[in-house]
Amino acid sequence: MERLPKLILFLGVFLWPLASATNAKIKSVFVFGDSQFDPGNNKYIKNCTIQANFRPYGSSFFHYPTGRFTDGRTVADFIAQFIGIKFQKPYQEVYRHLAKDPRKGIPPDGLNFASAGSGLLRDTNKDTGVTPIQVQLQQFQALITRKHLHKKQIEKSLFFLVSGANDVFSYFLLPGASKMTQRVYVSALLKEVTRFTSKIYKYGGRRIVLFSMGPIGCIPGRVLISGASTNRCIDKMDSMTRYYNTGLKRFVSNIPKMYHGATGVYAAVYDTSKKFRDNPKLYGFANVTHACCGGGPLNGMLQCGLEDYKMCLNPNEYFFWDYFHPSERTYGLISKAFWAGGEKEIWPMNLKTLVRNITLSFP
Ligand SMILES: *[C@@H]1O[C@H](CO)[C@@H](O)[C@H](O)[C@H]1NC(C)=O
Ligand SMILES: *[C@@H]1O[C@H](CO)[C@@H](O)[C@H](O)[C@H]1NC(C)=O
Ligand SMILES: *[C@@H]1O[C@H](CO)[C@@H](O)[C@H](O)[C@H]1NC(C)=O
Repeated sequence: MERLPKLILFLGVFLWPLASATNAKIKSVFVFGDSQFDPGNNKYIKNCTIQANFRPYGSSFFHYPTGRFTDGRTVADFIAQFIGIKFQKPYQEVYRHLAKDPRKGIPPDGLNFASAGSGLLRDTNKDTGVTPIQVQLQQFQALITRKHLHKKQIEKSLFFLVSGANDVFSYFLLPGASKMTQRVYVSALLKEVTRFTSKIYKYGGRRIVLFSMGPIGCIPGRVLISGASTNRCIDKMDSMTRYYNTGLKRFVSNIPKMYHGATGVYAAVYDTSKKFRDNPKLYGFANVTHACCGGGPLNGMLQCGLEDYKMCLNPNEYFFWDYFHPSERTYGLISKAFWAGGEKEIWPMNLKTLVRNITLSFP
């Protein structure tokens, strides 16, 4: 009777190092995309006109403007906290340190390349000095070439992409600027997502989370588009968004077949936000139509913080912080849904599982 526990202990001792060798728990995240995740990259680009590095941005959490386009943390920040690592620093900040002292290396928690205003198409907002997704990838690649990043770390990292909203918004803001039909335009966007994923896979990335487009047709900033109603979402924009999301989810379902050993996850931003917007009181929102901070109709005509802006008393009661972006509270709720939610929110597994699932094999 006494020998059994000893045997188990004996096996345990021998299996432990084996298990931890294959248990490649996620320790870093690499983030790409637009203002939804931008932690302040644009503020380092002096001639970039899309900025949020002034008050009252950041006022609910950081208590100073960080360059983030909300009153506090973004989804990327919340997920980092759930994983138990530090916020990913802006690439532009780390790059400047590296330029001075290359031995410094990059932070173990990963990096954030996201640039507000950028889209999946290289030309989206190109006159504003934003960093397109294609250039964000080049920045990542250059770190590998210069040996600041290694395949072993990349294989154990998460990759996030949130983009597309600026492409869709530009399509409607500048009617006729794109000669493409809505369907062809969406195909062009999805082609860029495929290109992005192929590159990340080639560099060694194996866990890729693609965030769907949010309810862009319903944002307060829609009043910038001529003919938009303040009472309802822009139907055409909304249907384009949903069409893109359907294509994105289909692509994610093909990732394991297209990229051997890779796991793709689809984060349903649209459906998750809709749940909050359809039932505001249940989730503690008093206002899901107007921006907390801004000016003009829906507070959507003027960017928060610019001359003569107005601000609500309690940003936590507002779904939208400014003309384009959710409040920190909204980002927090969305993040919780992606971290631990069900398949309607995040598919085919939530991020907690993605991070902890030790049976995911590493090549
Ligand atoms: C901003 O400055 C960079 C570097 O000086 C330059 O390459 C880029 O073309 C400029 N962009 C705009 C929109 O002026
Ligand atoms: C939402 O907030 C705006 C101003 O911040 C206000 O004019 C509007 O009436 C509010 N809507 C609701 C439903 O409370
Ligand atoms: C962990 O990942 C494997 C391989 O992708 C999958 O088959 C399994 O269902 C996952 N486990 C959970 C709990 O989701």
